[in-house]
Amino acid sequence: MAQSYLEIEAGKKLSKEAFDYIARGSGEEVTMDANRKAFDKWTIRPRVLRNVSKRDFSVSLFGKTLKTPVFLAPIGVQRIAHPEGELASARAAASMGIPYIVSSVSSNSMEEIAEVMGNHLRWFQLYCSIEESVTESFVKRAEASGYSAIVITVDTPMLGIRKMDLLNNYSPLSGGYGCGNYITDPAFCNLLEKSPFEDKEAALQKQYDIIDQPNLNWLDLKKIRSYTTLPILLKGILHPDDAQLALDYGVDGIIVSNHGGRQLDQCIASLDALPEISEVIQGRIPILIDSGIRNGTDVVKALALGADCVLVGRPYIYGLATGGQDGVEKVLTHLLHEFDISMALAGICSIDEIEDSALVRNLE
Ligand SMILES: Cc1cc2nc3c(=O)[nH]c(=O)nc-3n(C[C@H](O)[C@H](O)[C@H](O)COP(=O)(O)O)c2cc1C
Repeated sequence: MAQSYLEIEAGKKLSKEAFDYIARGSGEEVTMDANRKAFDKWTIRPRVLRNVSKRDFSVSLFGKTLKTPVFLAPIGVQRIAHPEGELASARAAASMGIPYIVSSVSSNSMEEIAEVMGNHLRWFQLYCSIEESVTESFVKRAEASGYSAIVITVDTPMLGIRKMDLLNNYSPLSGGYGCGNYITDPAFCNLLEKSPFEDKEAALQKQYDIIDQPNLNWLDLKKIRSYTTLPILLKGILHPDDAQLALDYGVDGIIVSNHGGRQLDQCIASLDALPEISEVIQGRIPILIDSGIRNGTDVVKALALGADCVLVGRPYIYGLATGGQDGVEKVLTHLLHEFDISMALAGICSIDEIEDSALVRNLE
């Protein structure tokens, strides 16, 4: 796929290894490309003469009103993109009133990130660790530091095969860019012989060893539920039967995602998976989606096909790389402006007015 201007500019600022880690996908990158192509299968069928002078695209989610249906996706190791890492993204999110989903493998700790966000809406993304005590501790710390939902990523029982990282011999986790939450965690530190400050190498190795839980299954959700009163969402749902199981197991929301084409290659594009999943969910719990959202019109299409909100991934990291907090704000401002104008030109003044009749499926 052709690179965007933003991606090219970010590439000039980043080391080749860091750029490849962010921009590239798993396997042959078929899924990463499919995520974008899926948006081109649909066109918007605008309505006219509808007085679009006043528009309100707020949405209500878990009792909170959001100004727009856009979130920052959980992206870890952000110090590879900018020295201020997640703190810059968090400040940008807070200044723009956009919710930020903070990654388990953030460079900074969740408490430091919470501190710069004040009261602004944030969720915590959980990688369930093979060490149950660490999982429990992360969830409890997130609740104590003002995160208002837990997003469990379920498409990473193990890491996808990212060829460029293998070729570059590059691992930001081993480099210590994703340990912010681990080295500050009492349960994690209990697993170490020496404190992370005395023996960082051993701490990073331990993080690597315990980060994923390949045996994670639906029954584990009950245990995680017992750690918190917060809503729990699953990130990485692509199959309608899993959407049904999410309902059966009392999950509070789902995120349709293939991790931006970084996990299972040759799997379905997120947007292609959305309509069937929406059919199953029938509005009973919120559906969010990510993977491939680049333009305001992508947001329109995702909402029209049944999503309540979207998550933006790589584009804000390119903004971070090019200009720190200011760069992230520029990317988001541009996206939201484009979304607003696209909705107006489609004759839509509120989220409730989007229906799938706004879209036409192109002939293939
Ligand atoms: C550099 C990078 C790091 C990521 N780290 C995480 C992470 O820590 N946790 C997670 O659930 N998803 C992670 N993701 C996936 C994103 O949350 C999101 O699903 C994906 O970026 C969306 O696709 P897009 O980049 O095409 O918008 C990461 C993605 C990238 C590009």
